[in-house]
Amino acid sequence: MQASPRHGFGGRLSYVWQTARPPRPAPTGDRMTTRGELKYEGKAKRVYATPHPGEYIVEYKDDATAFNGVKKAQIGGKGAINNAITAHLFPQLEQAGVPTHFIERLSDTEQRVRAVTIIPVEVIVRNVAAGSFSKRLGIEEGTVLARPVVEYCYKSDALGDPLINTDTAVALGWATPEELTRIRELALKVQAFLVPYFAARGVRLIDFKLEFGRLADGTVVLADEISPDTCRFWDAETNEKLDKDRFRRDLGGVEDAYSEMLARVTREL
Ligand SMILES: Nc1ncnc2c1ncn2[C@@H]1O[C@H](COP(=O)(O)OP(=O)(O)OP(=O)(O)O)[C@@H](O)[C@H]1O
Ligand SMILES: [Mg+2]
Repeated sequence: MQASPRHGFGGRLSYVWQTARPPRPAPTGDRMTTRGELKYEGKAKRVYATPHPGEYIVEYKDDATAFNGVKKAQIGGKGAINNAITAHLFPQLEQAGVPTHFIERLSDTEQRVRAVTIIPVEVIVRNVAAGSFSKRLGIEEGTVLARPVVEYCYKSDALGDPLINTDTAVALGWATPEELTRIRELALKVQAFLVPYFAARGVRLIDFKLEFGRLADGTVVLADEISPDTCRFWDAETNEKLDKDRFRRDLGGVEDAYSEMLARVTREL
């Protein structure tokens, strides 16, 4: 790796890396972890291999997209906030009986996770009508649902993540019936943990999207992230939106909403 000296401000000597960032060893208890080959790049994160088979490093980006990538922007600080929120919630979900891919947070924007094969079925849990549910069914946004609704979508950017049912997922070989039963059970455990967690912090959890994956031995675990990118959060007193809808709907105050959610999620009660 080549570094070239340059004179920075005040004549101080600083070093600017000429090539891609050097692999950075990060302390991980009894081992070191370095970022290897880029495995996937999505709209919000990059996934890197590590020297340890079975582990990846996920890097959270500031990039934001909406309407299936049609609208794009950067949200300052989003990567660090979503990394921190996910890193705060996943260990608590583990404790609540939901196995997850999360191992540890490595830096502001990186976390070490267990490598999984993502099951291409996005799971949405809804408590209050909003977004595509309101549109599809003509139900006014804000209508409280009598019980949580679990929906499934086929994870396909090209098709715009279309709504499916579990028969479709089995018939097309995306998941087994047993896996789908487990996924629903885990999604409802996440729901049962998160709703009171956020309520205690003055936030209504309107809906959220989960992704699950398989470990090498076939165990289904919660993967991906839980953040204002993947949840709808409304302030409990004012119903002010504290999530990505501020970006989707040009409501302004996007960065402030994400920061506010980080503060509330990490608040000690
Ligand atoms: N532990 C993991 N192992 C393997 N892949 C993972 C893991 N956790 C998340 N991923 C995948 O990393 C990819 C990048 O995440 P990102 O959120 O940027 O995707 P995205 O642009 O939202 O695309 P998608 O619609 O495919 O989720 C996603 O495909 C996600 O499913
Ligand atoms: Mg994503």
